[in-house]
Amino acid sequence: MRTQAVIIGAGPAGLLLGHILHRAGIGFTILEARSREYVLGRIRAGVLEQSSVDVLAELGLDADLREHGLTHHGIHLQFEGARHHLDFVELVGRTVSIYGQQALVRHLLAEHERLGSDIRFEVSDVTPTGLEGSDPTVSFTDGGATTTIAGDVVVGADGFHGVCRPAIPGIRAFERSFPFGWLGILADVPPSTDDLIYALHPDGFAMHSMRSPEVSRLYVQVRHDESIDDWSDARIWDALQTRLGVDGWTLQEGEVLEKSITPMRSFVASTMSHGRLFLVGDAGHIVPPTGAKGLNSAIADVVLLGRAIIAGLQHGDESGLSGYSAAALARQWKVQQFSEWMTDLLHVHDAPDASAREFAYRSQVGRLEYVTGSRAARQSLAEQYAGLPFTTE
Ligand code: FAD
Ligand code: DHB
Repeated sequence: MRTQAVIIGAGPAGLLLGHILHRAGIGFTILEARSREYVLGRIRAGVLEQSSVDVLAELGLDADLREHGLTHHGIHLQFEGARHHLDFVELVGRTVSIYGQQALVRHLLAEHERLGSDIRFEVSDVTPTGLEGSDPTVSFTDGGATTTIAGDVVVGADGFHGVCRPAIPGIRAFERSFPFGWLGILADVPPSTDDLIYALHPDGFAMHSMRSPEVSRLYVQVRHDESIDDWSDARIWDALQTRLGVDGWTLQEGEVLEKSITPMRSFVASTMSHGRLFLVGDAGHIVPPTGAKGLNSAIADVVLLGRAIIAGLQHGDESGLSGYSAAALARQWKVQQFSEWMTDLLHVHDAPDASAREFAYRSQVGRLEYVTGSRAARQSLAEQYAGLPFTTE
């Protein structure tokens, strides 16, 4: 069997790349290890940069986003019991959209089904080979039978735990793990805020986000080794009330529909390509979630690689493909430093003794005073939060 692009992974990166290639008339097959239901059920990111929204609009994939997405003009930063609003429109003339990754994946998949795209779910033993030559292949097991697909390019959109990154000989990782994670809940209650709230509190970070006018998404910082079983719904709401509380404001509580703990790490692969294999999204890099860059980075990679594949396969111009890794990594390192900065700024850090902990906390409050008090600093945060351009210029 032969196609032009073999895409491994049906997360947002793989599904979106399929649409970009389809529009250019390039054939593709998507191989996904999990079931369709599992892919549709994963609850993850919630914020789309304006550039991500623009990409979906250009591709005609924004109907559901226009109907259900919520346009936000800024965020609140909270510390020492006071809330400060950053107005992105006034600062950088840009907005962000609240639109769950789950809704995006549902829409991208529905559109693929309408187009009759070749997506194989629940495949196993996915193995890319012959990556150094011009005829790479991917073998996999589907319903007990082993099949091999040849293509012009193989795309590793298979996330952090996928098989594509380890298939690159000599690849290295640059990483930092954090000794804390986020406990996230989805709650059946209208949001108690207009824009998202990011809060530093002596007990730890907390955030108030949302999925719709009826459903809230909230997070609290927990130790990385904590078990979700130790966090009853009542304990979670208590922590949220304490960390998000300010005078004259009430956090409405509701039924907890889902809860889970996400570990936090920063990770960048030393390269995002090898021969005819190209990595996109979490397969190549991971950011801690503060600042909402994971999904947006995956979209930025896919836009860059999509253009390069179209130029290479349709116009014989290989420069985009040969420059893809360097261009994607250059943008990604800027995103990494922002996500790391936001994470350090807003989380409580452990320290060897009480004095060092106090110093760290007071220094963070100083930084937050500076960010909220300086127009230049607010503008810098807004520029990065609302999203860097999708090219590296
Ligand atoms: P993924 O979404 O991971 O998709 C990869 C796909 O490849 C999956 O469907 C997987 O099943 C499939 N796959 C894996 N191995 C194979 C294989 N061998 N063969 C075939 N298919 C395979 N980002 C934010 O910005 N904000 C958040 O709040 C946030 N929360 C998160 C919570 C969790 C628990 C996690 C894990 C991530 C979160 N992220 C968040 C990050 C964001 O969701 C990711 O950056 C985004 O999903 C990346 O998309 P992707 O398509 O690259 O990878
Ligand atoms: C959400 C996640 C984030 O990482 C973030 O910075 C803002 C919002 C969310 O899931 O809604």
